[in-house]
Amino acid sequence: MKKKYFLLFIFTFLSFSGPIILRPPNIEDIKYPNNKAPSLNEIKLGKLLFFDTRLSKNKKQSCASCHNPDLGFSDGLSKGIGTHGNPLGRNTPSLYNLAWNNSFFWDGRAKSLEEQALGPIQNPAEMDMNLDDLIIRLESIPKYLELFQKAYTQTEITKENIASALASYQRTLIVNHSPFDQYKKGDINALSPAQKRGLLLFRKKALCIICHNGANFTDGSFRSLGIEDGDSGLAGFTKNEKDFGKFKVPGLRNISKSAPYMHDGSLRSLEEVIRFYNKGGGSAKHKDRLVRKLNLNESEIFDLISFLSSLNQDMKVKRPQLPKD
Ligand code: HEC
Ligand code: HEC
Repeated sequence: MKKKYFLLFIFTFLSFSGPIILRPPNIEDIKYPNNKAPSLNEIKLGKLLFFDTRLSKNKKQSCASCHNPDLGFSDGLSKGIGTHGNPLGRNTPSLYNLAWNNSFFWDGRAKSLEEQALGPIQNPAEMDMNLDDLIIRLESIPKYLELFQKAYTQTEITKENIASALASYQRTLIVNHSPFDQYKKGDINALSPAQKRGLLLFRKKALCIICHNGANFTDGSFRSLGIEDGDSGLAGFTKNEKDFGKFKVPGLRNISKSAPYMHDGSLRSLEEVIRFYNKGGGSAKHKDRLVRKLNLNESEIFDLISFLSSLNQDMKVKRPQLPKD
């Protein structure tokens, strides 16, 4: 497409979509498996499991070791580190507002939180725990057996119930009354002047909204920003060459808490992220054509960062008291 028509297309898109689609998330829109919201017992059990290092083979690592609530449900590292101290291939994503998501992992290879949950437990590079052994281990802890029975009315612990409890807990990690949400609900003073300028840039000049839109600032698509680390991304799972280097557009809620950024953790701060976009992204071959030089000046860069911080909402997560062996 010629540049002129391309820009015309973009601006038409923005003028129709811009003002409407960034909004607070609606709890009513969450799709639960079998259309059934989890019970409080399931959520509480899921939280215990999430924080319990006995889910890993050597009892050293829990989900929260990598998805640490004090670090935006991430780990502050460019790439994760497994229970045996080994480095992983990708950055640990944060876990906010995944209740609305329908694909998981940077390459989207899991279709539900239930499907996702058993992955890291069994992965030899992560928690390295065989599920049959995990069930035996959990059943030997009287309190867990009791809690599973209460949550699922089954006498035995099953892998499906472990997955369901973990997923149920993760669906409660919701950010929906950040300053941005309050602003959208009518409190025009909830955003500072810089944040308001940043919101406008996000929607217009900086083109962010094209991919980061909707209540959770992701359209669920897969794109390449041109990062040159050679990670095949979506193609590793679809086996389609045109998907090479594409990754899921991540949501941006509480984003300033989970540095470093991108699937390879190569950008250390939001400032680095914006400067990266401003210069037109990376240079890998499959880069999306929507990623292009933005010509933002210094104060615009800081307005945009300031806007991103309006998506923050403190979430106090108390570490639970775990059942005794
Ligand atoms: C060793 C560190 C580590 C541990 C332990 C770990 N994760 Fe992760 N998690 C990661 C990394 C790295 C990814 C991204 C992997 C990828 O996309 O290929 C990830 C991805 C995820 C995602 C997908 C998020 C998204 O936006 O798509 C969810 C959900 C998740 N983990 C939940 C869990 C749960 C539940 C546990 C415990 C059962 C767990 N993780 C244990 C590092 C870890
Ligand atoms: C063409 C679609 C697209 C556009 C336009 C876009 N992004 Fe992204 N964004 C993505 C994708 C895809 C990723 C993850 C890429 C990766 O890891 O390789 C990402 C990652 C990010 C991250 C890091 C998230 C994390 O958890 O590591 C931030 C922050 C971000 N974008 C903000 C912005 C801002 C601000 C703008 C506007 C200047 C913008 N994006 C424009 C698609 C886009």
